[in-house]
Amino acid sequence: MAILDILVYPNPALRQETVSVIAFDDKLRKLIADMWETLYAAKGVGLAAPQVGVPLRLLVVEWEDARKVLINPRIVEESGAERSEEGCLSFPGVYEEVERPERIRVVYWDENGESRDEVVEGYLARIFSHEMDHLNGKLIIDRLSLLKRTFLRKKFERKARAS
Ligand code: NI
Repeated sequence: MAILDILVYPNPALRQETVSVIAFDDKLRKLIADMWETLYAAKGVGLAAPQVGVPLRLLVVEWEDARKVLINPRIVEESGAERSEEGCLSFPGVYEEVERPERIRVVYWDENGESRDEVVEGYLARIFSHEMDHLNGKLIIDRLSLLKRTFLRKKFERKARAS
């Protein structure tokens, strides 16, 4: 297993289009193992493949007793709305209040290629929703006010130029 580099905004790969996973092969299993290793090393709760530069519809989530691999996930129902603070490994140091659905129903394939249909709520729904945004090139700043978005965009662009 290997710890992968987590891309930091404004790396353009965070915005790239992703494609569905079509093969449950050794290459996929290796990527999933590396993503777990990377998530643990970063002490995060979720990581999506585009964050490690891989344009696939795949994410891993670990929070409380839930440890899940979501392959080609789709939200098929959502309800409620809740504002709460969240962070993102691609925006180190940023914690902002974001509105998310309170409850979502998501269908996906797990790491064994089994099809799943699950309803999750609260913070787990938030993590799923956040990570699934990554699969669509959507980032936490896109869900903030124009003022905050502009401030953070400039701050991270400045940091990227300086490094
Ligand atoms: Ni994120």
